[in-house]
Amino acid sequence: MALPYNQRSCYCGQVGSDRAGQTVLLAGWVHTRRDHGGVRFINLRDRAGVVQLKFDSTTDPQAFETAGRLRSEDCLVIRGEVVRRPEDMINPRMKTGEIEITVREVEILSPAETPKFEIIDEIDVGEELRLKYRYLDLRRPPMQRTLIMRHRITKAIRDYFDREGFIEIETPFLTKSTPEGARDYLVPSRIQPGHFYALPQSPQLFKQLLMMSGFDKYVQIVRCFRDEDLRADRQPEFTQLDMEMSFVQSEDVLRVIEGCLQHVMKEIHGVKVETPFPRMTYRQALAEYGIDRPDTRYDLRIKDVGEIAARTEFRVFSEALGRGEVVRVIRVPGGAEMTRKQTDTLTDDLKGIGAGGLPLVKVVAPVSNRCGPQFQTGIAKFFTPELTAEMIAATGAEEGDILFFAAGREPDVCKWLSWLREVVAKKRGLIPEGKWNFLWVLDFPMFEFNEEDGRCYAVHHPFTAPRDEDIPLLESGPTKCRAKAYDVVLNGVELGGGSIRIHRADVQEKVFKLLDLTPQEQQLKFGFLLEALKYGPPPHGGIALGLDRLVMLLTGMDNIRDTFSFPKTARAVCPLTQAPGPVAPAQLDELGLKTTTGQSNAPAGTRG
Ligand code: AMO
Repeated sequence: MALPYNQRSCYCGQVGSDRAGQTVLLAGWVHTRRDHGGVRFINLRDRAGVVQLKFDSTTDPQAFETAGRLRSEDCLVIRGEVVRRPEDMINPRMKTGEIEITVREVEILSPAETPKFEIIDEIDVGEELRLKYRYLDLRRPPMQRTLIMRHRITKAIRDYFDREGFIEIETPFLTKSTPEGARDYLVPSRIQPGHFYALPQSPQLFKQLLMMSGFDKYVQIVRCFRDEDLRADRQPEFTQLDMEMSFVQSEDVLRVIEGCLQHVMKEIHGVKVETPFPRMTYRQALAEYGIDRPDTRYDLRIKDVGEIAARTEFRVFSEALGRGEVVRVIRVPGGAEMTRKQTDTLTDDLKGIGAGGLPLVKVVAPVSNRCGPQFQTGIAKFFTPELTAEMIAATGAEEGDILFFAAGREPDVCKWLSWLREVVAKKRGLIPEGKWNFLWVLDFPMFEFNEEDGRCYAVHHPFTAPRDEDIPLLESGPTKCRAKAYDVVLNGVELGGGSIRIHRADVQEKVFKLLDLTPQEQQLKFGFLLEALKYGPPPHGGIALGLDRLVMLLTGMDNIRDTFSFPKTARAVCPLTQAPGPVAPAQLDELGLKTTTGQSNAPAGTRG
């Protein structure tokens, strides 16, 4: 008689000693096998964990015989008795380690071929292979834990927003372009040949329209699509926790998000995060950390030392300062112990990202008790005793430290030193475990001027409101204009960004104009928004958080791919389904499309 697998007693990983003496029905996959002559042991696994099955040749010969045929990853159902293990056989490393199941009946529901890799916690195989056999990869316990954690995080977020009176509303995927700074994924229309939908880079404009529709508290956990170069924390389709509120100021949005993250941290890690989160202006973040998403878990702050550097004989400094550029420094406590080889490696890596080199000095003991610590190696010879003393006072350097300098254009120096800060912190073990440093970065500029094409670009997006006192700057000095925008950062990762929006058609038009959109282009792209702004739009603002990034940080992963069920590779390919792939010529005809590159039948990812 077939075993009724639809009547499982519980999950394998949940059988506890309280069930000792009971008969249970369990189903799952063969995790490991051990043969001890007349007794065979199988660890059976499901999403909750593993349980040890015992097959005894004397008491249950038929089940014992079947166990001999079992292979890794076969799918089974068993019926057996829960038996408390003798004291010396208890396995404290297993959740179910106090018991085992004496199997009376076993049925193979489906056999498995030898998996392409072992279904264990740590495997050493290429990601391409893992993604090709993602359903096997997802059987691995850490992957199961991550996806279950993702569910719990999402649920905690939904519970919180529901309690706060937010309404979850879905918005379209087949839509028009929403500018979030990336390329759009386009979908051709069959019914309107030659016309395209764009998949949303975010629901930005729809959520603003929902505010104009009177839903004053909107939330959505939503897929977004961006065709951009992928990195460890970027996927072409990803999920946002997207929210918007009416009749609010920045403070109100910040408070709701702080409450949400506090709730999630408590639910998931049992950690109480202090609110309000620390705040920093964009300028301060760049000046002290070289980046707009500082990791504040460690210090290594950047200092501007242009004034002292100008008086040294070091030409790199004087020339940079002469061009109106900057000289900045990082002090690494205890860093004088770094070897020549280590600092040379840093120098080479920095050259790889455009730096000319890495000027440095080590701080060593005074030569006599009448003077302070001295500089040694690197560019030490360019510092007079007076300048050495000034530099030491300015940086707070002590004996045994190293100072790393950078000279050049401010954005470059920021890039090099923020890179250096992170690398040195990692190499020297300065990043504490178990710290959750949330941070708001505020007062972003509205626009960024691109020297290459001589155009202004929105730092957030074009619907972000300028600060009230800066509105006149839209005319007189747009790049000085600050936005009512905010980013939330966790441990150096940009979790989310948002802003108070423009709710006046005249200001919106002015901003579009600054972004070089002609009135015709404005109408074509955003006519519906400008029209909606005529019908009593409420003041509103919101934010979106990258859910995948939040899950990545909360599960301790170092890339977001592992937080997705079926992610894409860095080349935006799905090795499992082979998407993107060629389509039949008839499908293209139906859409009125012709490709200029020609279609290739080569598998996705191998095309140039
Ligand atoms: P923004 O473009 O800053 O803002 O996106 C918000 C957050 O989404 C996450 N994110 C990504 N995650 C994974 N892969 C990607 N390719 C990717 N791109 C962005 C980041 C980011 O902080 N509409 C505005 C929000 C608003 O103004 O309310 C927006 O989308 O964590």
